[in-house]
Amino acid sequence: MPLVPQPFRALVIGSSGTIGSALMELLEKNPSCSAVYGIHRSSLTPVDYQDLNTIESAALALANLGPFQLIINTIGILHTEHWMPEKKLEDLNAEQLQMLIQVNAIGPSLTIKYFSKLLDPAGSIMATLSAKVGSIEDNRLGGWYSYRASKAALNMLIKTAAIEFGRTRPNTALVALHPGTVNSRLSKPFKGEQIGRPPADAASDMLKVLFTLNKEDSGTFISYSGERLPW
Ligand SMILES: NC(=O)c1ccc[n+]([C@@H]2O[C@H](COP(=O)([O-])OP(=O)(O)OC[C@H]3O[C@@H](n4cnc5c(N)ncnc54)[C@H](OP(=O)(O)O)[C@@H]3O)[C@@H](O)[C@H]2O)c1
Repeated sequence: MPLVPQPFRALVIGSSGTIGSALMELLEKNPSCSAVYGIHRSSLTPVDYQDLNTIESAALALANLGPFQLIINTIGILHTEHWMPEKKLEDLNAEQLQMLIQVNAIGPSLTIKYFSKLLDPAGSIMATLSAKVGSIEDNRLGGWYSYRASKAALNMLIKTAAIEFGRTRPNTALVALHPGTVNSRLSKPFKGEQIGRPPADAASDMLKVLFTLNKEDSGTFISYSGERLPW
């Protein structure tokens, strides 16, 4: 039986992003969604992964808006104004690796820690956007050291929490969700406009998949198409 009931209440974390705003738009129009809230690093209740204390404060501030049956975290970075993904080992540097681990793995895992308390114990899903390039098994091309490593770390954190939730919150599923290549700020320097899908299509596909998930799907790495990805 699908875990997200109808009607449901939703929260999008990173709602200022390309995929985050597309998800907000669709959820706002979804007649089964009775309420949807969005937060990001500049929202009234900010969540900023450069200041990890904001995660617990935001969860506490939003607690009275719950319980939520669906939480989707879209926060993630691939590049900044200072650097692009590494093409070769020679490009690897501590600053970039630390930053990506902080934003793509530490922030999202602490978000699971604090925001999972806002999930409905009777039936809920928390999806965190990962990336197929974070799959160790699927890594054929190499490169992008920090991004790959940070998403692989994220995947392990999600899987580990899902195992614990299997015992403590059996009606909550935690999943790592791959959106596919999407035309966004993040993919722009990598021909995102040419090879990426429109964010509305990606958001629609991902919501369709999320609405079909049941508790057996917890702890999986799943694609926008519904395909299970190798870790
Ligand atoms: N686009 C793709 O092709 C693709 C492929 C695979 C996976 N993904 C994953 O999908 C997710 C969404 O990506 P997107 O394409 O929508 O990218 P995007 O448009 O760049 O959005 C990224 C989001 O992350 C937020 N963010 C960045 N640094 C942050 C920080 N330090 N603290 C809090 N929030 C921060 C941004 O907030 P601001 O608006 O304040 O900057 C924005 O809300 C990411 O996790 C990404 O890894 C994307």
